[in-house]
Amino acid sequence: MNIRLTLIALLFTATAIPTALFAADIQQVQKLHKAHCFQCHGNEVYNPKKTKLSDQMALLKRVTGCSRAAGADWTAAEIKAVADYLNQTYYQFP
Ligand code: HEC
Repeated sequence: MNIRLTLIALLFTATAIPTALFAADIQQVQKLHKAHCFQCHGNEVYNPKKTKLSDQMALLKRVTGCSRAAGADWTAAEIKAVADYLNQTYYQFP
């Protein structure tokens, strides 16, 4: 393979892989959320206008507490991923 082809191939790999991973991650996170988080409430509690949460840290604490209440044995990374997902989808805390 000549150098120009290698560079083009590298460029494609560098842009294609993160996008694919990102899509898979979101699906994984939505699956986790759906499997554990609708026993007590639905999406309606994620209301940025009515929330008592003030920032991403408060959201992370809430998701930690709720995941324990849900009996979900989530890792710290899973909790963070769900908190980020909820923030992106509903709260948009900076
Ligand atoms: C055992 C019951 C229970 C389960 C299961 C549960 N929650 Fe909750 N959750 C609550 C209660 C109670 C509140 C408080 C509702 C209120 O303030 O009106 C709450 C509130 C929240 C809030 C804050 C809403 C806001 O903006 O004020 C978030 C975020 C949240 N839950 C996330 C989750 C996630 C993520 C899961 C799944 C891991 C989950 N909850 C599972 C009981 C539960």
